[in-house]
Amino acid sequence: MNFKKVFFDTIDSTNTYLINNYQSYDNNTIIISKTQTNGRGQKNNVWESQIGGLYFSILLKPYKINTLISLIAGISVLETLKYFSDKDFKIKWPNDILLNDTKKKISGILVESKVINNEVKYLIVGIGININQDCLLDNAISLKNLENKEFDLNNILDYFLNKFQENIKYDDDFIIEKINNNLFGKNNFFEILMNDNIIKAKILCVNKEGHLIVNCDNKEIKILSGRILL
Ligand code: BTN
Repeated sequence: MNFKKVFFDTIDSTNTYLINNYQSYDNNTIIISKTQTNGRGQKNNVWESQIGGLYFSILLKPYKINTLISLIAGISVLETLKYFSDKDFKIKWPNDILLNDTKKKISGILVESKVINNEVKYLIVGIGININQDCLLDNAISLKNLENKEFDLNNILDYFLNKFQENIKYDDDFIIEKINNNLFGKNNFFEILMNDNIIKAKILCVNKEGHLIVNCDNKEIKILSGRILL
């Protein structure tokens, strides 16, 4: 994969920019911005984007939707963080990276796509990683907070992009195995929001399709979309 990087000092959101301009860019373009004025997270949340964090979106124009793309991005972020820090990180299904088993979030992923008549127009993988910020929300943490030093954002981005292009080529089974080896909350009980209901369940694993498998009242349930509540 040959990535072409496009840098901005400030932008509303690297994802929104690509949604509006994907036709002008090739497959594998990366939009990177030092700050975002309207950084977006999952569920219409705001993604705080002050200077010091890494904010970028990858434009993919594949033939078909890769349903594991968010997990592939997640494991690539996790492996990148582990390279630059000796702390442990976990993937909170489906797309958060937390500091080991704490509730502190260091990275989030927002994948957006447009498919018309089975034709994939774009797949945008938006990633925010807390790197050099000092002050963050209570439930967030940066690499600088953990390591007491500043990092070069470009080095981190390049390491991530290498990992991402390596991981995207692997078999789904191997990706899922890596996810399960780094899964947040495994064998512990959590409240899980699922189709507007909250269930209490034990997290077991992620299956081949990328769904979360939990045990609720001694029954295994497959969660296609939902959220682990902390
Ligand atoms: C989440 O955890 O809710 C997902 C956060 C995704 C944030 C990134 S930052 C780069 C890209 N542009 C956005 O507006 N959002 C994503």
